[in-house]
Amino acid sequence: MSFRITDKVAWVGKIDWELRRFHGDEYSTHRGSSYNSYLIKDKKNVLIDTVWTPFAKEFVENLRKEIDLEKIDYIIVNHSEVDHSGALPLLLKEIPNTPVYCTANGAKMLKAHYHENWNFKEVKTGDTLDIGGSKLTFVEARMLHWPDTMFTYMSGENILFSNDAFGQHYASELMYNDLVDNAELYQEAIKYYANILTPFSSFVAKKIEEVLSFKLPLDIIAPSHGIIWRDNPVQIVEKYMEWAKDYQENQVAIVYDTMWNATRRMAEAIAEGIRSADKTVAVKLFNAAHSDKNDIITEIFKSKAVLFGSSTVNKSIMHATGGLLDMIKGIGFKNKKAAAFGSYGWSGESLAILNERLNAAKLEVVSEGIKELWNPDKEAIERCVRFGADFAGRL
Ligand code: FEO
Repeated sequence: MSFRITDKVAWVGKIDWELRRFHGDEYSTHRGSSYNSYLIKDKKNVLIDTVWTPFAKEFVENLRKEIDLEKIDYIIVNHSEVDHSGALPLLLKEIPNTPVYCTANGAKMLKAHYHENWNFKEVKTGDTLDIGGSKLTFVEARMLHWPDTMFTYMSGENILFSNDAFGQHYASELMYNDLVDNAELYQEAIKYYANILTPFSSFVAKKIEEVLSFKLPLDIIAPSHGIIWRDNPVQIVEKYMEWAKDYQENQVAIVYDTMWNATRRMAEAIAEGIRSADKTVAVKLFNAAHSDKNDIITEIFKSKAVLFGSSTVNKSIMHATGGLLDMIKGIGFKNKKAAAFGSYGWSGESLAILNERLNAAKLEVVSEGIKELWNPDKEAIERCVRFGADFAGRL
């Protein structure tokens, strides 16, 4: 499959409908993904990014149908991660001397991945490449989301090739934002931001402000995953600015794991208490062991507060809650309030451990939390309802 985006630019990537896990098992891709590669035919011919390694052979064979490979003048690598650079070794066996444009970090990382001394041309922000009618301008986008990342802007066609930024793990043959289901599109876009870009939000805001200050005309944003933004592309830029500034909605997430349902009953009673105090807040409950971890992270990203609950097991907390707390610490959410709860039988360490982990993740713990012995009775449930109402009052 390939298709024309403008007279000069064609999509020559791969739609991966089967993909269900990305970055090992770290990221769920319920709707598959795509690896977007772009071929520009101007006075010079340019390839921007490639596809993930398992599709290298298919990619090179398809590319050969679009262009005599010898006629590719330049290859641009906006980002060295293998989902975009994976076909380079095979392609460069065919056209070994073709210049590879990337940042200095990009060249280092490509060498470290593939141990090849390709014809690297290192570029910095503001460097340009004249390709005939159009000009390509490079913009380093360090930590969006790797140190090597850059954007490439094509004048004339007014296209920003943004690599991972503004992308989504979303397979669709329709390929454009005005053609796909926008609820699905935004769900995948916010999940991508929440799970992959949140740690780099300060870089995101600064980079967007810098790019906007260039006042470049922008007709299309062509990311390296998912659909292409051609209908009002600035809409996703504006969303990124909102998401980058400690985003939150009027929502509280309650995340728990439970052995014999005592902690689940506490979670439901706390939810009832929050709702009794504030009828406008959306309260969402997630059993950490039964729910997709990246979907939970997305819901926490959207929340102004999060409650974590776990039974005590072996003087500790249950493993699904522990794994999520590690993820949250790494992601580094800001401006989120938190509290802990849990049931116990004898020693009851879970509450203190949850509090310690929430503090370590730099969430703002607003209460000491609540723990209940064995199966909560009527009075215990009422305490949890009151705890929920009190928590809502602290938000
Ligand atoms: Fe889609 Fe960071 O690679």
